[in-house]
Amino acid sequence: APPVRIALLGAGTVGAAVARRLVGRADLYERRTGRRFELAGVAVRDTARPREGIDPSLITDDAETLVDRADVVVEVMGGIQPARALVERALRRGVPVVTANKQLIAQHGPALHALADEHGTSLEYEGAVVAAVPVLSVVREALAGDVVTAISGVVNGSTNFVLDLVARRGVPFEEAVRQAGELGYLEADPTEDLEGLDAAAKIVILARAAWGVPVTLEDVQRRGIADLTDEDFRQAAGAGTVIKLVASAWCRGSAGHRRVEVAVRPVALPQDDPLAQARESANVLIIEAESAGTLRLQGAGAGGDETASAVLGDIVRVVRRG
Ligand code: HSE
Repeated sequence: APPVRIALLGAGTVGAAVARRLVGRADLYERRTGRRFELAGVAVRDTARPREGIDPSLITDDAETLVDRADVVVEVMGGIQPARALVERALRRGVPVVTANKQLIAQHGPALHALADEHGTSLEYEGAVVAAVPVLSVVREALAGDVVTAISGVVNGSTNFVLDLVARRGVPFEEAVRQAGELGYLEADPTEDLEGLDAAAKIVILARAAWGVPVTLEDVQRRGIADLTDEDFRQAAGAGTVIKLVASAWCRGSAGHRRVEVAVRPVALPQDDPLAQARESANVLIIEAESAGTLRLQGAGAGGDETASAVLGDIVRVVRRG
């Protein structure tokens, strides 16, 4: 079989990790799919910047041409444009797309799925929701024979790092935010984390996957952690609780009268609550299903290698499907 030409859009932390694995573990993917994976090119904005570990001859700023000669497009550039236009370009050509771009999927997922269906191809994004933690696969595939009733989780490692510094190390809130920023735990635009926008995108994608409903970011009852005060933390501790930023989605009613609600908000949880156990930047998800009962998933919800694990998993599945 001919090699699978993979176009990589973006060479940030995730892109670099995907490139490293694609090249370094090509034998593994060939065994698993029967096809050789070939990194066809890496599209970046700034071609002058050195990209450690990536063959310089693969770097290009012509993303469109790269998309046009790919068998699979991997979008890890982030942001809405030009990511959206490039993903649409690939789908219109019938080329499957794998992305880790949660805002793109939260805002335009349904339209992109429709486009993929129209052109007989697929759009995959396990890496967009808590990185390597395979929650989309669980909700969509593993629980395909069950009915998910609720999903809740600590799905933003950045804010959890801040909250954990306050709760377990007694660091004042403002100082904890500053430290998290300094250590690189916050997004370039920290409001994404602090105002709960990152968590909102993830829970919207999960709610759609669980119930097939057209939930949007506007439907999320959202409150971040930005307006919490040291007094809030003192009260929580005094009551034996711990404050976590909890994203949740639940489904009420039955077929015909189903109502899905989605929320992101700080919640004071009892110390022994599974979500209260999330330490540092860990993510924890609880999935409730009719027959399965309560399932718990836990792991790193961010990071280059961790997200690359999910992205490569999507690529392998796409190639196996043929
Ligand atoms: N800042 C995000 C987090 C990155 O820590 O969860 C992954 O979305």
